[in-house]
Amino acid sequence: MNFTSIINKKKNKINLTSKEITWLVESFLNGQIKDYQMSSFLMAVWFNGMNDEELAVFTENLINSGITYDLDGVEGPFADKHSTGGVGDKTSLIFAPLVAHFGVKVSKLSGRGLGQTGGTIDKLESCKGWTGEIEEQRFKEILNTVGMSIMSQSKNVVPADKKLYALRDVTGTVDSVPLIASSIMSKKLIIPAQSIILDVKVGSGAFMKDLQSAEVLANTMISIGKSHNRNVSVMLTNMDRPLGRAIGNAIEVKEAWETLHGKGPDDLNELCVTAAAITLVNTKKFSSLDEAKQKVYEVLKSGEAAHFLKDFVEAQSGDFSLIENYSKNFLTLHKIEVVAKKEGYVSFKSAEGLGYLSMKLGAGRERAEDTIDFSAGIYLNKTNGDFVKKDEVVMTLFTNISNNDEFLNEANDQIVISDKKDDTPVILKLILNSN
Ligand code: URA
Repeated sequence: MNFTSIINKKKNKINLTSKEITWLVESFLNGQIKDYQMSSFLMAVWFNGMNDEELAVFTENLINSGITYDLDGVEGPFADKHSTGGVGDKTSLIFAPLVAHFGVKVSKLSGRGLGQTGGTIDKLESCKGWTGEIEEQRFKEILNTVGMSIMSQSKNVVPADKKLYALRDVTGTVDSVPLIASSIMSKKLIIPAQSIILDVKVGSGAFMKDLQSAEVLANTMISIGKSHNRNVSVMLTNMDRPLGRAIGNAIEVKEAWETLHGKGPDDLNELCVTAAAITLVNTKKFSSLDEAKQKVYEVLKSGEAAHFLKDFVEAQSGDFSLIENYSKNFLTLHKIEVVAKKEGYVSFKSAEGLGYLSMKLGAGRERAEDTIDFSAGIYLNKTNGDFVKKDEVVMTLFTNISNNDEFLNEANDQIVISDKKDDTPVILKLILNSN
């Protein structure tokens, strides 16, 4: 086969055959197709897209490039969740216990953070000893005994996507709906969970800057899920603001633990309860979303599901007592209180800006090889829509890096105080789908 003719076909909007797609994914992975050739193909896809058939075959080939998991020997139903990446997003740590409480097993692969977004694996590693690198057999045992387990993505998970993503990242081809949809869905489909809830972030801190393009992405992922017999539902959620009040690693696990005891912030409660309720309807535990939401809220408020988080962390060798005694274990050299310069309603310039500030405080990575300070991060004493008086604390920065003036300036730069209350809801739209 000739790769130049494949590039030309895509450039001229001629559909590719299954054989051509299979060949190009395999040949890129084994090095026969070079990065410069694939870059050109990716840009042609960026301009001309892929139709449903092309996308289904492309995704299938991504999946086949690496390992897949079976859940033999574990009693279902099984559910998974994915977020396209947000600031302060600790939803998985709350969603999974809530769903597990109702007998739905959460079998999940998660990643690390980079840039402004945090990663679930990094957050969990703040429980010293916790590991996401577990064998499939152990994964199944934990699903059987605890009801939820999270593994980290090894290098054998969809290697073709890993190689493609690295190239997209440096060739301006990340923000392409078919490429994002196939990339995300390939990593979801290697575990046979029948219900998948996708949290597609919309706004300044997200890939999708507006609701319309986020909806196109959502429907594309639903269609890929359908072609694999999975029940995919999507929540389009607001990423013009951070989720919850905590941004960092240990501080986010603490917020998840408090939320599971009924003491969480409203936006985080709403998002986690809705995601869990949709999943429970999709797995036939409830017949109506309203009833499911009400029951999940009751469980959240009662604290009954919290033990799932602790049990799962301990089953994967983590020390959860560090979180239970947070103030003793995650002290930082500097605690910088940022106060309001005037009174009014609080909002932030961008969620992305707060994510980068948290990264600079030590909580994130600028490059993949950077190490993380689990105790660093931001607590929003006031968040979107809260009223603040002059000189009241809006946010607190925790860091071990001595650069207080610069951090203070950046934090002040992010705070917006106005006469008008920001009351945009956290959930912008639900796209529910059942097979
Ligand atoms: N997340 C992914 O896994 N892939 C993309 O292409 C974008 C976000």
